[in-house]
Amino acid sequence: MLHSASRKVGRGFLGNSVRIGVNVFQNDTCRKISTSSRKQTVMPAWVIDRYGNNSMLRFTKNSLFPILHYPNEVMIKVHASSLNPIDVSMRNGYGAAMLNMRRDPLNIKAAGNEFPLILGRDVSGVIMETGLNVSHFKPGDEVWAAVPPWKQGTLAEFVVASANEVAHKPKGVSHCQAAALPYVALTAWSALVNTGGLKKDNCKGKRILILGGSGGVGTFAIQLMKAWGAHVTTTCAEAAVSFLKDLGADHVIDYKARSVEKQLKDLKTFDFVLDNVGGHTEHWALNLLKPWSGATYVTLVAPFVLNTDRLGIADGMVRSGITMGSKVLKSFTLGYMMVFLLKILFK
Ligand SMILES: NC(=O)c1ccc[n+]([C@@H]2O[C@H](COP(=O)([O-])OP(=O)(O)OC[C@H]3O[C@@H](n4cnc5c(N)ncnc54)[C@H](OP(=O)(O)O)[C@@H]3O)[C@@H](O)[C@H]2O)c1
Repeated sequence: MLHSASRKVGRGFLGNSVRIGVNVFQNDTCRKISTSSRKQTVMPAWVIDRYGNNSMLRFTKNSLFPILHYPNEVMIKVHASSLNPIDVSMRNGYGAAMLNMRRDPLNIKAAGNEFPLILGRDVSGVIMETGLNVSHFKPGDEVWAAVPPWKQGTLAEFVVASANEVAHKPKGVSHCQAAALPYVALTAWSALVNTGGLKKDNCKGKRILILGGSGGVGTFAIQLMKAWGAHVTTTCAEAAVSFLKDLGADHVIDYKARSVEKQLKDLKTFDFVLDNVGGHTEHWALNLLKPWSGATYVTLVAPFVLNTDRLGIADGMVRSGITMGSKVLKSFTLGYMMVFLLKILFK
């Protein structure tokens, strides 16, 4: 519970953006989380100062302490974070052109560029402070979140997120377990539910193919589809076959054993394909769908970001639009629906 003085502090905070008062927490949990004095202006974090390989990663105790700039924001003390493939890619500069367009000068480009940049998208932790318009969370709440790639990341002691990017952490899940889920789970949800139209009551008996089932997105997608009654076929390397069967997959194909395309062609056609692999898969996997039946192919591998990195924003968007548009049109003429998952980038 919060001392009433803390609410006053919260309200006064936006006016002067001065940070005050973790000592306003009364209960034990709050005392535990208030180890970082709000008087501090720096915090420990892993940062990069330019793009490149792992040697770019630098641990510092002097990263700028974040500030709530908007009334819908919350500050989270990070208890656990995790690494996604996107963190590795972003360390290399992936998406920089486009992400810089979305970056807010107030919290990330104060120095004129995005550096020092904190990577890490997933967080499980405890709310330290809430903006004036936040009513759903209060300091001391245990939360988990996926912080968008255009914001400072979670490989730090504190991170600021918009309240709509945050949810209460389920009590039965530890911080470490919770930090492994948000970004991949939301990506899988976005692909299957928001983009693909699958839901609890329309999956029963559907034949779903998940290409690349052994990664973060794939393992979540398999479990969700099985929980909703679908028949799931997936592909992975031999080492992951028994793992994916344990997760519930009905049919697991080792993509390294022999041509995965041939192995899949021998099976009944599918109602839905989730493609986590991309590239060559697009040439043959569309044909695995039931034609003219509303079957859908959702791919997570869109050319958009790579094109904008390579060609700049304008040319990259035009090139991507043409590539994706022609693929989508072609899929319509064949009786399928092909969708590129871009929501993660533009939500
Ligand atoms: N993670 C996210 O939240 C997120 C968000 C947006 C988009 N995406 C995109 O979604 C895709 C999947 O992401 P992820 O996080 O699940 O990646 P991941 O954890 O790296 O998993 C990819 C999996 O695919 C397997 N794989 C590689 N080539 C394969 C092939 N030809 N056939 C079958 N399996 C193959 C890999 O296993 P082996 O190495 O053992 O073969 C690996 O387990 C990536 O393209 C990523 O860029 C991810």
